[in-house]
Amino acid sequence: MSRGMAHLLTALFVVAAVGYPSRRSATDLDATPRTTVTFDELSGVRRFGARTLNYSTLLLEDDRGILYVGARGAIFALNSSDVTDGSHRTIHWEASPEKQMDCLQKGKNNKTECFNHVRFLQRLNSTHLYACGTYAFHPLCAAIDADMFTLPSHFEEGKEKCPYDPARGYTGLIVDGGLYTATRYEFRSLPDIRRNLHQRPLKTEESPLHWLNDAEFVASVLVRESKDSPVGDDDKIYYFFTERAGEETTSFFDKSQVARVARVARVCKSDVGGKKILQRKWTSFMKARLVCYIPYYEVLRSICSLDGGGWASTVFYAAFTLSAQWRTMEASAVCRYSISAVQRAFEGPYMEYQDSARKWSRYDGVVPEPRPGSCITDRSRRKGYNSSQDLPNSVLDFVKLHPLMFEEVKPTGGEPLLVKKSVAYSRLAVDRVRALDGHSYDVLFMGTGDGWIHKAVVVGSGLHIVEEVQVFRDPQPVESLVISHAQRSLYVGAASGILQVPLASCARYASCYDCILARDPYCAWDSRACRAIATADSTGLVQDIQGGNEGCRSGSGRGESSPPLGTPGGDASIPLGGQDGCEARVPAGSLLWKNRTVLQGDDVLLPCDQRSNLARAVWLLNGSEVPGAGQDRLRVGVDGLLVTDTLPRHSGEYRCYGEERGLRTLLAAYSLTVLPELPRGPTAASRPHAASQAAGDVKVAYVSAIVALVVLCAVLSTVLLYVSCLEKRKGKYVLGEPRPAGVELQTVSANCLRKSRREEEEEEEELAYPDGCLQIIPGEAPTAATSPVKELPAAAPPLPPPPPLPAELTNGVGALPNVLRKMNGNSYMLLQQQEEPLASPLYSASFTEELSKILEKRKHTQLVEKLDESSV
Ligand SMILES: *[C@@H]1O[C@H](CO)[C@@H](O)[C@H](O)[C@H]1NC(C)=O
Ligand SMILES: *[C@@H]1O[C@H](CO)[C@@H](O)[C@H](O)[C@H]1NC(C)=O
Ligand SMILES: *[C@@H]1O[C@H](CO)[C@@H](O)[C@H](O)[C@H]1NC(C)=O
Ligand SMILES: *[C@@H]1O[C@H](CO)[C@@H](O)[C@H](O)[C@H]1NC(C)=O
Ligand SMILES: *[C@@H]1O[C@H](CO)[C@@H](O)[C@H](O)[C@H]1NC(C)=O
Ligand SMILES: *[C@@H]1O[C@H](CO)[C@@H](O)[C@H](O)[C@H]1NC(C)=O
Repeated sequence: MSRGMAHLLTALFVVAAVGYPSRRSATDLDATPRTTVTFDELSGVRRFGARTLNYSTLLLEDDRGILYVGARGAIFALNSSDVTDGSHRTIHWEASPEKQMDCLQKGKNNKTECFNHVRFLQRLNSTHLYACGTYAFHPLCAAIDADMFTLPSHFEEGKEKCPYDPARGYTGLIVDGGLYTATRYEFRSLPDIRRNLHQRPLKTEESPLHWLNDAEFVASVLVRESKDSPVGDDDKIYYFFTERAGEETTSFFDKSQVARVARVARVCKSDVGGKKILQRKWTSFMKARLVCYIPYYEVLRSICSLDGGGWASTVFYAAFTLSAQWRTMEASAVCRYSISAVQRAFEGPYMEYQDSARKWSRYDGVVPEPRPGSCITDRSRRKGYNSSQDLPNSVLDFVKLHPLMFEEVKPTGGEPLLVKKSVAYSRLAVDRVRALDGHSYDVLFMGTGDGWIHKAVVVGSGLHIVEEVQVFRDPQPVESLVISHAQRSLYVGAASGILQVPLASCARYASCYDCILARDPYCAWDSRACRAIATADSTGLVQDIQGGNEGCRSGSGRGESSPPLGTPGGDASIPLGGQDGCEARVPAGSLLWKNRTVLQGDDVLLPCDQRSNLARAVWLLNGSEVPGAGQDRLRVGVDGLLVTDTLPRHSGEYRCYGEERGLRTLLAAYSLTVLPELPRGPTAASRPHAASQAAGDVKVAYVSAIVALVVLCAVLSTVLLYVSCLEKRKGKYVLGEPRPAGVELQTVSANCLRKSRREEEEEEEELAYPDGCLQIIPGEAPTAATSPVKELPAAAPPLPPPPPLPAELTNGVGALPNVLRKMNGNSYMLLQQQEEPLASPLYSASFTEELSKILEKRKHTQLVEKLDESSV
């Protein structure tokens, strides 16, 4: 990145920050998932998949115990208590060969498009389901007898109800027998919100103004606002979508780019259209802008709603991702909106299109009565307006020209709950869970574009991500998420199948502290194990969602059951500031002391895997803390302590703790012995590594032979390790294309370390070969993104804030060396780079070359220290 560009970006950022004050920075809004569960570590997940693809449409009937699934060419009825129990029923509903031929001739893709993608599946009445499929670009719908579960002999035309294109944004609901759908139906048609299966079919207006501009629909939500309404209000259907911005000045976009904004629109259920004006059109359509974090640069991906017992408490959770302008970066934001904030916008001023100026601006003229766009209420009924057909022409004419509201809908608290880099959330589901403290917490399940689920709890104005779970081995977008309270399961729909995942896997937390620190509202510690609250007897349970650190009495976490031997850990937690008892409280036998012996001048990595991504690694050497920033050749990393260029004075007892929320847990303990340097061998390179060898009287030939063998072994195991590390790379997000400017330090996963230890033992010598364990791979170094800036004319003052600078999003793992941060549980990331290329080979472009160089003579590159200099 050039210096000028950096300055421009900084300047823009400052300007933008003034325009959009945010109380918290991107760093504060980010959250690291506390634990990472990879595909291989999963348990309790059930998978259903047939030969079909695209299990995208889910309909859960919890009371009947059935999960219906609309897929490509099929509809399934699964037993929701166990989707894999083999009792499923199937309706095969393939597009006919003729229609597939037609589809092909229309130039459509015969691998993805020319099929019958079932896109709509809902209950129609007590006996029937209603389903629509794209039917190879010739949509059809059918009422399906739910008991017989067979296709009817008669199909309905689907072209007004279901999109032709299986990938088109689409949402639909059946409300009191009426079918409300929103999409762009045909290839060339305009997007439209329609009501069918109703005496009064309705659509949106297209002239003189389009009410919808290239809208891509995401969700629709029915809010029963008529219930207990003191003003006799109507039920409303809310639509969420992204569309081309009409109202805003788009001067800072060049012509190839179109500013898009997120919107919420709504219609009234009892709308029957106008009599002469707006005949067969909605008279209650209104839309407003939905703002989350970076206006204009965010695309709405998913909406889920929750009402806590009454419609007035309805909240909408929304996931946004960065729009395509930010090609080089991936980031998501999650916002929460209250129904009252949405209503406020619809009750506020209107926008109006000025033909002469060709732009939208606030309308300050006279607003006719009854208020245009509002539903028929008691007040209008008293004035004789019993239905929308009775409304005066002035009102309907106004509605026709003023679909857009002036006020935007802002998130609760004025800012997002979460801004997460390197993740694209594709789907949300929300559950409200009553915790032991008597409060109810909203738990969000967020599916990503590459097959992970993030589970997060809303605490105050932020999100704590309890865990990230890789539910699909092959990266694929999570396309639907449904929660079953009866089954305490989350169903996940994606291209390759349906998953049934338990809402909580409390048994994963092995100790009281682990259980408390997780802050999972579904789980609590019962003095022996971490259990699901729903199944446990609630007496004697402890949980701390707010603070995440209270409730385990010192020592009680240890419980009666002794921890498994050799898995050091959780049960040795002690509150910080406790009576200096770190050592005293380690249960004997639960930790294995490991001996390490190295030669002076060698590097040694003492592995220590933090199970929690939020834990800070704390190392004590002979009882006093090794500074986290590192000094005297000691570097604290997330999976171990690196001692470079050892000296005899580095000998001593090393203990590794995980520190999280003020609690310390002993994880590993080592006794390190550094032997004084041996005399040099015949060549500089052939310094003997075998430390157990006594120095001195060994014949040169003998040494050379040993050395040759050892070096060979080392090279072989390094190669093996490297390959296996590449394969076992876990939890890492692939961030687009590798950019040559980036450096990513990926430390070995625990697998690799264990393996290397085993290999050491096989050599029957106490050799430390940390080498396989630090690698440099080309990765995306989050230098400030330059490309978006290039795409904007430089002299555009009202620029909204660019996406958060990645360097800001540093996961909050404060104690790691400044430049090295753990990314999603397993790899380090270089966060800052100097502007001038350094002389160090580390900064040259070829990483394959660098990798071999560094592995070869890592000791002298002083990798970590060099990197540190570049931190700011
Ligand atoms: C689903 O499975 C459970 C137990 O396996 C069984 O009791 C129940 O009857 C099944 N439900 C349906 C709808 O088949
Ligand atoms: C799809 O079309 C291509 C070219 O028209 C053809 O080669 C291929 O066999 C077709 N695939 C299927 C599944 O029909
Ligand atoms: C449900 O709808 C179907 C299809 O329109 C109809 O045949 C059936 O009679 C309806 N059932 C009830 C109970 O209304
Ligand atoms: C269906 O699944 C295939 C295979 O994963 C994918 O390429 C395609 O995009 C999916 N189509 C839809 C409409 O989801
Ligand atoms: C509206 O309904 C009321 C009572 O149902 C009726 O008395 C009145 O005439 C109706 N008004 C119109 C304009 O239809
Ligand atoms: C740690 O203690 C051991 C023995 O008690 C001693 O030999 C060593 O020098 C000490 N190391 C440090 C760094 O103080």
